[in-house]
Amino acid sequence: MSEKESGGGDFRYAVGESKVPWHAVGEFYNGKDAVEMVKFLLPDAGNAGYQAQLERTANEIKALADVGGKATKLTLGKKVQEAEEISRKYFGAKYACFLDNWTGGMEIGYKLAGIGPGDEIIMPAVTFIATMAYPLNVGAKIVFADIDPETINLDPADVARKITPKTKMIVPVHLGGYPVDMDPIMELAKKHNLIVMEDAAHGMGGAYKGKKLGAIGHFGGFSLHEVKNITSLGEGGLLLTSEDFAGPQLPGARFLGLDLSRKIKDWLYDISPLTDRFGKPQVALNHSATEIQALGMLLQMQRMDDIIAIRRKAAEYMNSVLSQEEGILVEKADTPETYGTHHLYLLRIDPEIVGGNIQQLSRKLAEKGLTNITHFGPMYRLKIMKDLGYDEEAIAATCPNTEKMFYHSYTHLPLYPLTQEQLEYQAKAVVEAVREMKAGK
Ligand SMILES: Cc1ncc(COP(=O)(O)O)c(C=O)c1O
Repeated sequence: MSEKESGGGDFRYAVGESKVPWHAVGEFYNGKDAVEMVKFLLPDAGNAGYQAQLERTANEIKALADVGGKATKLTLGKKVQEAEEISRKYFGAKYACFLDNWTGGMEIGYKLAGIGPGDEIIMPAVTFIATMAYPLNVGAKIVFADIDPETINLDPADVARKITPKTKMIVPVHLGGYPVDMDPIMELAKKHNLIVMEDAAHGMGGAYKGKKLGAIGHFGGFSLHEVKNITSLGEGGLLLTSEDFAGPQLPGARFLGLDLSRKIKDWLYDISPLTDRFGKPQVALNHSATEIQALGMLLQMQRMDDIIAIRRKAAEYMNSVLSQEEGILVEKADTPETYGTHHLYLLRIDPEIVGGNIQQLSRKLAEKGLTNITHFGPMYRLKIMKDLGYDEEAIAATCPNTEKMFYHSYTHLPLYPLTQEQLEYQAKAVVEAVREMKAGK
């Protein structure tokens, strides 16, 4: 079998027309495997006719396998390239890197920004552990900015107060998909020579003042984990930058310092360290993603704008019902300058009017069969922070809104893919629960 017939030889070796292909060292997927994959993605939901249809489909797939070729390039190939090309155009960034997850994407951003021991990084007090994992690992110091009570995103005024000579980065998080007020953040960064990395894990497809979220800071990117607006088969990440010191290094940063788009002449000499913002060497790890993950992202990206439009309508519906009830504070709507992704619905209450706090409301919502997502809380309260020597009470004293809001006022609700009936049930249940609390029940 020549290289051409076999679907392409390995890109790492300039072998020309190979008589003995490289991929012979690995096992292909066959027709039976493909049937199992279809069964996995489209499982039996107990509907009549599933088994009979499955049998017909299995026979067709096996017949297709007899005449079809083999997908011999499974990782970092043409689909990954296509996903990156489309992303560059869609988000308006000069460089894009598709990888295994967004935690890995942030690791690369932090590494190229040259983050090391003692450097200070300002991020919102409310986010997910992934935002701070890499800086914690290398002994950098996390400085928590308080949140804006209306959006629970970081408050730019508090970021300004917390900048010191050791500050190296600001990491805004578009929590729940609501855009952070980026202009003051970028101005602070310019004034103090800081790098901004947008954690837009929830913000894929959203925009702020005409710019796509994730493409405003020096670095930014998205999670394609299964509980995000779109996914790449359960895990995935996309890192964006328009910085020329960083962009050309992204392929190497993703895979151990190797740029696989170039033929590698000699493994002994072709592996280089990354060069960070300060010209220091950094060692890359492996955050490769597969071709099928890239395909998974491309398929869902085609309907991403429609998905956001449906989510936006669902949020508007929640707002229209909940705004009728005193004591419930509805989510901030999109403005002409902001286009949120409505990844999660931000439910807030005024504890004084409602006569109880969000913890009580959460319990009531759970009793009524609602899912409410309570895991975006004060990061300085995580056990790991105490273990690492952070003084949680001292930090809490610098984040009064976070303290007040988390324990008393907010939680998140899902919006998609709820049916209209489920959405109506959810809105009605919130109103009922609040009324019960007001009645002292
Ligand atoms: C705010 C935030 N940042 C970062 C991440 C990490 O993304 P990933 O799971 O793709 O590593 C998540 C994932 O849930 C997140 O919610």
